[in-house]
Amino acid sequence: TQPLRIALAGLGTVGGGVVKLLETNRALIERRAGRPITVTAISARDRTRDRGVDLSPFEWVDDATTLAARDDVDVVVELIGGADGPALTLARSTLANGKAFVTANKAMIAHHGVELAEAAEKADAALKYEAAVAGGIPVIKGLREGAAANEIGHVYGILNGTCNYILTKMESEGLDFADVLAEAQALGYAEADPSFDIDGVDAAHKLSILASLAFGTTLDFDAVAISGIRHVIAADIAEAASLGFRVRLVGLAEANESGLFQRVHACLVPVSHPLAHVAGSLNAVVAEGNFVGRLFFEGRGAGEGPTASAVVADLIDIARGEYGPAFAMPVTSLARLAPAKAGER
Ligand code: NDP
Ligand code: HSE
Repeated sequence: TQPLRIALAGLGTVGGGVVKLLETNRALIERRAGRPITVTAISARDRTRDRGVDLSPFEWVDDATTLAARDDVDVVVELIGGADGPALTLARSTLANGKAFVTANKAMIAHHGVELAEAAEKADAALKYEAAVAGGIPVIKGLREGAAANEIGHVYGILNGTCNYILTKMESEGLDFADVLAEAQALGYAEADPSFDIDGVDAAHKLSILASLAFGTTLDFDAVAISGIRHVIAADIAEAASLGFRVRLVGLAEANESGLFQRVHACLVPVSHPLAHVAGSLNAVVAEGNFVGRLFFEGRGAGEGPTASAVVADLIDIARGEYGPAFAMPVTSLARLAPAKAGER
């Protein structure tokens, strides 16, 4: 059997995790994928950096954007980050070359997902991004495939591991915001620019993707109303606790006759609600389907292991030849809903 040959662009928290996972679980992955998944070429900025993993078997390429044109690569895995720049150049050239593209880059999918999905459809190539939302939780697959037969009215959840880690550590240990943010960064949870996490932008990227999958609508990141957790202080958390609530950054999307309603902000969640018990870097997503009923997905939403797990799951799907449209349906069939404002729900 022919191996699935992949190139890795980006060898940081997630890229390093993918190399480790492919090596550690190699035999299991091969059995499940039906063929070996092998790394042929790799790229990052600093060739000399020790990444705690043996990269000597792989060919190092200085310019990641050249990976798409290589004859010895079937799939390009983009783990660089950033909505534009080299990540987007690589996505466009990979799909234009008719090759499969796997990414964990929610910023790029939120901003350019529709264009990339069109390119993938034109080339009959896979575009997969399970790791982009909620780390290791298979929520893209859950909504796109598992709940595909349902009318879904709303989707909401805790979509940022960094914020949830900060809020729950502030709550349990009374620590200051800045100290806990530094911890979350050291654990590999935060984005390269952590303001994306704490200002709610990362959660909004993910929410816009979930909304598209849940409602079969086109992505509309610009319509998300966003605020973050910068303003939350320990006293707010203590006051909320005394009233029977916990503070969580929640993303919520709803599709109704007024249009598409999407917002991200800190919420007071009653302790009786399951989201109040989602702690540390865990994420959770709740969706309500008209036949399946309530779905609750929970798991680790950030960090090396969970995110690598989702990236390699996409690779296994591609190795098996299992992929469909990137979103809920082909791009031309996605509905366009007007953004609804608060108060119009
Ligand atoms: P890191 O900052 O740890 O890694 C980024 C990698 O990209 C580094 O290896 C860096 O090289 C490399 N890089 C930067 N610029 C270039 C370039 N021009 N050409 C080639 N390589 C380049 O980020 P993460 O691993 O945390 O995140 C990667 C992606 O995964 C992002 O899109 C992020 O949003 C997403 N993600 C991250 C999660 C997490 O928990 N960390 C979870 C889910 C998604 P060098 O190492 O040499 O500096
Ligand atoms: N920075 C993101 C988070 C990584 O903290 O949730 C996972 O997408």
